[in-house]
Amino acid sequence: MSHVIAVAGKGGVGKTTLCGLLIQYLCEQKKGPVLAVDADANSNLNEVLGVEVDMTLGDVREEIAQAEMAVKSPIPAGMSKADYAEWKFNSCLMEEDDFDLLVMGRTQGKGCYCFVNGLLQAQLQKRQNSYPFMVVDNEAGMEHISRGILPSMQTAVLVSDCSRRGVQAVGRIARLIEECDLKPQQVGLIINRAPDGKLNAGTMEEIEKQGLNLLGVVPQDETVYEYDCDGIPTVNLPKDSPVRAAMMDIIGKLNL
Ligand SMILES: Nc1ncnc2c1ncn2[C@@H]1O[C@H](COP(=O)(O)OP(=O)(O)OP(=O)(O)O)[C@@H](O)[C@H]1O
Ligand SMILES: [Mg+2]
Repeated sequence: MSHVIAVAGKGGVGKTTLCGLLIQYLCEQKKGPVLAVDADANSNLNEVLGVEVDMTLGDVREEIAQAEMAVKSPIPAGMSKADYAEWKFNSCLMEEDDFDLLVMGRTQGKGCYCFVNGLLQAQLQKRQNSYPFMVVDNEAGMEHISRGILPSMQTAVLVSDCSRRGVQAVGRIARLIEECDLKPQQVGLIINRAPDGKLNAGTMEEIEKQGLNLLGVVPQDETVYEYDCDGIPTVNLPKDSPVRAAMMDIIGKLNL
């Protein structure tokens, strides 16, 4: 069975950046193939990984849901919706050497998508076991997981900045994970963008108050930000980059 790692946290704290480095680490450690899932409607994991995306699951969902109403259905005559979903699902898998990327795409329009979601969920479940690891970059909050579209997770990686509010937000996500009965084997916290890689006492106090398991601290590094601004994939950071080094150390503490 695939080991699912879900990355979650408040908006803009560096989830996608760290998710990309986590995928890169797993591939370098030959733990692949990895299924990378971009579950953020505002998808950009592909940019961090340096992958072009042709089609998202959202596009397929929309196409199937609209097919009945269209004058000319995009589904070929004689093909069932389930077969069409399977065929189209393949076009959504961006295949790289050590990982495949699946982009969930934008949120749904009006109407009931339960049936289409069910078809796509079945496709995901069918394929999931061909990947030893599946890494999910979530949007702020955990909607995809609480709605059951994505499988449950074995590892939850919570990401926060150094702010108390960021830590409180991941504290809420940790409780949501418990309430949804997701039962991950491990839940760990990464503090990102720490000035000089150091935590101040106030943040540490909040982490303890929230009862979170701190895996480690990733420093603020202007190169990461500059790469982003220049459109260079984060995975192209040099091996000795302090952010990559910190992530190596942190991931090593996870039981993967
Ligand atoms: N350690 C770091 N040092 C400097 N900049 C960083 C660091 N980590 C992330 N960033 C920058 O912070 C910005 C937000 O990062 P990212 O997109 O990964 O956050 P996110 O949590 O995925 O955001 P969203 O909630 O919008 O999906 C990006 O410009 C990224 O380059
Ligand atoms: Mg993101």
